[in-house]
Amino acid sequence: MAIRVEESTFYLETKASSYIFTVYDEKYLVHLHYGKRIGTVGQMERIVDLDPRPGFMADNAAYFGMDGSRAEQVVCAEVLPQEYPCYGHGDLRSPAFHAQYKDGNRITEFHYAGYRVFEGKKALKGLPATYAEPGDRVSTLEIDLKDELTGLCAVLSYTVFEEQDAIARSVRFENGGKDAITLQTVMSANVDFYGKDWDLTHLDGSWARERHIHKNPLTNGYQGIDSKRGASSHVHNPFIALSGRDAGEEHGDVYGFSLVYSGNFIAEADVDQLDMTRVRIGLHPFDFAWKLDAGDEFQTPEVVMVYSDAGFGKMSRRFHDLYRTRLCRGAYRDAPRPVLINNWEATYFNFNEEKILNIAKKAKSVGVDLMVLDDGWFGKRDLDDCSLGDWVVDRRKLPDGIDGLANKVVELGMQFGLWFEPEMVSPDSDLFRAHPDWCIHVANRRLSLGRRQLILDLSRQDVCAYIIDAVAAVLDSAPITYVKWDMNRNMTEMGSALLAPEHQAEFAHRYMLGLYYVMETLTTRFPQVLFEGCSGGGGRFDPGMLYYMPQIWTSDDSDAVERLFIQYGTSMVYPAGTMGAHVSAVPNHQVGRTASIKMRGDVAMTGQFGYELDLALLSDEELEAVRGQIQQYKKYRDIIHNGALYRLRSPFEGNNMALEYVSQDGNTVLLFYYTVLAKPNPAVERIQLRGLDTNANYILEESGAQFGGDRLMHLGLNLKDKEDFSSRVFVFKKKQ
Ligand code: GLA
Repeated sequence: MAIRVEESTFYLETKASSYIFTVYDEKYLVHLHYGKRIGTVGQMERIVDLDPRPGFMADNAAYFGMDGSRAEQVVCAEVLPQEYPCYGHGDLRSPAFHAQYKDGNRITEFHYAGYRVFEGKKALKGLPATYAEPGDRVSTLEIDLKDELTGLCAVLSYTVFEEQDAIARSVRFENGGKDAITLQTVMSANVDFYGKDWDLTHLDGSWARERHIHKNPLTNGYQGIDSKRGASSHVHNPFIALSGRDAGEEHGDVYGFSLVYSGNFIAEADVDQLDMTRVRIGLHPFDFAWKLDAGDEFQTPEVVMVYSDAGFGKMSRRFHDLYRTRLCRGAYRDAPRPVLINNWEATYFNFNEEKILNIAKKAKSVGVDLMVLDDGWFGKRDLDDCSLGDWVVDRRKLPDGIDGLANKVVELGMQFGLWFEPEMVSPDSDLFRAHPDWCIHVANRRLSLGRRQLILDLSRQDVCAYIIDAVAAVLDSAPITYVKWDMNRNMTEMGSALLAPEHQAEFAHRYMLGLYYVMETLTTRFPQVLFEGCSGGGGRFDPGMLYYMPQIWTSDDSDAVERLFIQYGTSMVYPAGTMGAHVSAVPNHQVGRTASIKMRGDVAMTGQFGYELDLALLSDEELEAVRGQIQQYKKYRDIIHNGALYRLRSPFEGNNMALEYVSQDGNTVLLFYYTVLAKPNPAVERIQLRGLDTNANYILEESGAQFGGDRLMHLGLNLKDKEDFSSRVFVFKKKQ
């Protein structure tokens, strides 16, 4: 069992990490250690600083001695590393918990009230989360904290995934008192670290340039990221990492925090006056309040914490393993997924059945498995200004309906997939005319349009039921095995016509609960359908979505060079098989760049591969290249999706990028090397591989040359940047 309890001290142990906290004075949870494995902490001496300090609040209830006995020593809570700090008494840093009680006071005092340990992991009610399967080395610790005065109980949950060096945390609040309580700050996790010599890494961007890596040294005060947009967003991803100043891709301490949630969030590090660093992550307290009636429960989203003692690379591989196998679900979790072609950039709204079938036929001839019909098939949608919500086929474009087209595609020997944007409504739609109050809005305030559309109010059950029925009716009507689930704007005027005034600040979270309910219902009802998430590209690329949809359209920017940055950044947390990646036309529709067909293929191949262009416009030579790419991808996708990723060169640090994938059995190694710009008389790049067997020999497929694993790892390979926007792929086979 990976959880030990010794003398009121809790040890959570993964393969390479220990997470330790203790109960002081039978009441207070004090954090002791997160990092490399420690057998036992032994004496408390010199672990936490107990000296009273001038200018700090004395926590009068907490008198205890170095040996654990009660002593006449005043402890300052603000000096202690806290496990789950609440607002109101001596810790004046930002709390993990803050609430308002019936009489208006906002003071909480959680005291330790017991614990439970069990094998496996419970599901989180209404929320996406990691899970355990029978036989997994996974166990859970629950700690009860109680506020005596009000009867409020916080159940801190810690699930230890031993193999993945991961701990999944969340908190459940149970109102055991007689009165309603208004929850205001409900972090999923708080970790207090000694020292401030850390760097903070996060993934930020905008539409078409999502998840670029930003890494900055911490300084005193707040540093962090958030979203108040009603989606995890293009702007920030719900992930931060704290790393030692000397940490790099292959070495040093790195702590990753990844929130399994798709809505408003906060993730921050706060360096205090004693140079301690408090990390908090969870629901955004801004514009949030939740009225918890007596007897009711509230569940926070889950945060997954990964500790790596060997840099960012190991942290990412741990996240990849966990998210690929114990967050993603369904028939497509492990199965090879189809190579698709999407008509969006080939036709935009301007298509008919003939055009789509022509694309499908050409695609079939080069080995594509799935034809996806994107936006514009319903209502009277010739532009993005109408019809969202009216999920009825437009017979002007598709006279034989979706079923007619889908059947013809299936007859070609392909699968058929369809685009939806189920959370939206256009002001010019039958749905809006029938139910103007179904959109997110606030009475007497104007409606802000984004992409000329409004968002449906998914905090309402009737709206959720409509979406489920409308999407299900289409899926039931035709042989559809793939859905692209889009969401193309952020929220404004947040509020619901149905919520009472004291519940209005629950809106943003209630929307997410509604969305998750809709997704759970549809994915359960249509297990044969592969769902791909999308939000104007990667505006909701988060672990919450991956629980329902094992792949997400990574970005609307499919330019091969920009994708180096986006996919490299995304790979910090998310495995290759989750990243939708397509070869699109040149000049690229987003940035006008002309990258070679080879580079476009080699970049898309390190994700969930597909095409998004009119194949009829390609030359015979290019079509031949496409055929070869699909064969190559199908041959190697298992290694790319399920193998171990080593990031050898970062596009953020130079003119090239190198990625290496080692198959699970260690027998095949793929090296992708990309050049952005050619250099005259270029310097030699010495690329050293990782994760090989130093005692084995490897054969380079293209030449038959043999290399020792030690030579490839410690000496490396010479490569040069030759042509603009070019790439090379090397395949090594381990000699048996
Ligand atoms: C969003 C998606 C695109 C495409 C369009 C259709 O922008 O990200 O891939 O589906 O919507 O309107």
